[in-house]
Parts: sequence; C-alpha cells; structure tokens
Amino acid sequence: MTWHGVTTDPRLHIVTGKGGTGKTTVAASLATALAQEGQRVLLVETEERQGISQVLDVAPLGTQEEEVAAGLDGGQVWGLSIEAGAALVEYLRLFYRLGRAGDLLHKMGAIEFATTIAPGVRDVLIGGKIYESVRRTTAGRAPGRRSRSEDPPAYDAVVLDAPPTGRVGRFLDVTGQLADLARVGPIRHQADAIHQLLHSDTTLVHLVTLLEQLPVQETLDAVESLTSEGLQVGALIVNQARDAGVRASLDLVAEQAPDPARLAEQLESVGIRTSAAMISGLEQTAAEAVQRRDLEASLEDAVVAAGRPVLVLPHLPEGVGPDAVRRLAAELAAQGVASA
Ligand SMILES: Nc1ncnc2c1ncn2[C@@H]1O[C@H](COP(=O)(O)OP(=O)(O)OP(=O)(O)O)[C@@H](O)[C@H]1O
Ligand SMILES: [Mg+2]
Repeated sequence: MTWHGVTTDPRLHIVTGKGGTGKTTVAASLATALAQEGQRVLLVETEERQGISQVLDVAPLGTQEEEVAAGLDGGQVWGLSIEAGAALVEYLRLFYRLGRAGDLLHKMGAIEFATTIAPGVRDVLIGGKIYESVRRTTAGRAPGRRSRSEDPPAYDAVVLDAPPTGRVGRFLDVTGQLADLARVGPIRHQADAIHQLLHSDTTLVHLVTLLEQLPVQETLDAVESLTSEGLQVGALIVNQARDAGVRASLDLVAEQAPDPARLAEQLESVGIRTSAAMISGLEQTAAEAVQRRDLEASLEDAVVAAGRPVLVLPHLPEGVGPDAVRRLAAELAAQGVASA
C-alpha cells in the first residue's frame, strides 16, 4: 500500500489509539497482513502486558524474539516483549562488554533503580531495542559478523503495539525527555539515532479508533500533535465498525419510520403477541438506533476529513483470537494494506 503517498516502504509501524480501542488486536492483524505478503515481521510490545500472546493465543512473549505465526504464504511473524531492564543489560553487554556482570546488576535491582530514577532512560532503552530490530541485517544475525547497510534487513517490517495516545507523544519524544539528563555521551547518541528513525520516511504512526465521541476526538488531536512533532501519521483505523447488513437495515428504518399498526400486525402474523407498550418500546429502540447511526456517520466524516487513509475493521461478535486476527488481516489486505 502506498499509504496514500505517505511513503512506499514503511518499515516501522507504530500502532496507537485511545485505551481499549483495539491497538493490540490491530497491531497483530497488521503484522499478519504483512506476513501474508511474504514479509518477515517482528511484532513488539513494550508494557509487559502480554496482550499480544493473549490475542494470538501463544505462550507469553519474552525478551528474546520467538516465532508466533508461520505458514502465512512464506511470511512469518515473530513476537517480542521489550522490557527496559533486559534492554539495558543487552546494551551494557554490547557497548561495555560487561558480560555476566550485567545480569548481576539486574539481580541486585540496580537496573530497576536506574530506570525508575530516570523514566526518560527507560524509553530510550526501549526505543534503542526497536531501533536495533529495524536496522538489523541478516548478516548481523550471524554471531561475530558486523552488518553493513547494503545487507538485507533481518525484518521487512516491525510493528509496535505502542502505548495509548495519552502517553505516546512522550514515549516517542526520546530526545526531549533526555534534554536535561544527557546532553552528550552514548545515551544521548542513541536517543538522537532513535529520533532520526522515528522522524524518517520509513516510520508511520497508525491511530486506532472506535466510532465514539472520545476516541475520535483523541484521534483527531493526535493527528495534529504527532504531525506538529514531525512524525508521519499513517492510517486511521476505525475498529469494531457495524456490519454492513445492520447499517443497511438502519438506513431503511431511517428512511421510512415503521407504522406502529402495521408493525403490530406483522408481528402478530408470525405468532408474536404484541402490546401497546411493546410496540412503543420497539419504536423507541429504532429511533435510538437511527440516532446512533447518524452520530457514527458524522464521526466517520470527521475521521475522513483528517485527510489520512481510513481503514475500517468490523466488530467480530465472537471476540478476538487467532482466527479473528486472520480475518481482520484479510480485511486489511482487501483494503490495500501491504499491496505496495
Ligand atoms: N474488531 C473487533 N471485534 C470484536 N472485539 C474486538 C475487536 N477489536 C478488539 N476487540 C476487543 O476489544 C477489547 C480491546 O481490544 P485490545 O486489547 O486490542 O485493545 P487495546 O487498545 O490494545 O487495549 P489497551 O489499551 O488495554 O491495551 C478486547 O476485549 C478485544 O478482544
Ligand atoms: Mg493493548
């Protein structure tokens, strides 16, 4: 997908949205859709919530990458739970050759101490690990081999189940968070590299919303603030949308409000005993459903007016699990995701 001219080759997909709108579900579905195109995809979470493993019904994710879905037309999805402490140990190993001493620091609680004292450092560590996964090359996978920029990437795409919109701005502003903490040195250097990646052509921030007032408002606000921070907003994903069939029947009800006498007659004709209270209750329910349809339509207009590509995912009454994720992935593919 060209993401409507945003970029033709997004490598890092950041999925955010108001709490509970479906970020984890959509991130897993997007990763699956990309894998179905034959891509190698890394699906990442950062808050140790184990949301991804629940949605995909696999064992809890750890701090080592593991395959979580295969057989997707040659593509694969790998899962990773990034945890700041483990990222710091890895960092110390890599840059200071600390080896097992890093583990010891972990056991002593020093890592937790360091990351609690400076929350900005926590995000730089998590961002650093994301940066490393995006930039890693296949050659860099082999121990002892340094990767070169011309080597093919280890992952074609990295999909991040990100913190909710309320916190994502801070999470993505690694350099701002470190302003007073580290003006020079390796941490600063790493923050600058992450900043560059996040603001590059290859990174898109997607926003998940429901057709409800607050999530839509939060989405529109986020489009504005992310854009003003110089980040690229990708798609606006309307999740849990009503089934087209239900929409069509509501349109019908809206067009011709049911005549109470005829409604009673029809119900009686199929053996349902009616009462005046029942008929007026039905009329009220229909009126409310039409009102709700109008509200949803105006919210959808507002989402479209934001000028980003809009993707719509249906509400699945059976709930979310691996099968639902595949269905939603197929929906995303049908709407043009991954067909670059
Ligand atoms: N398309 C859908 N159809 C039906 N149920 C859905 C759909 N998408 C999400 N859900 C359900 O809605 C709830 C919230 O989804 P999810 O956990 O993906 O949201 P989230 O934004 O990641 O939440 P949080 O902010 O808590 O991390 C879950 O119970 C999930 O199963
Ligand atoms: Mg979640």
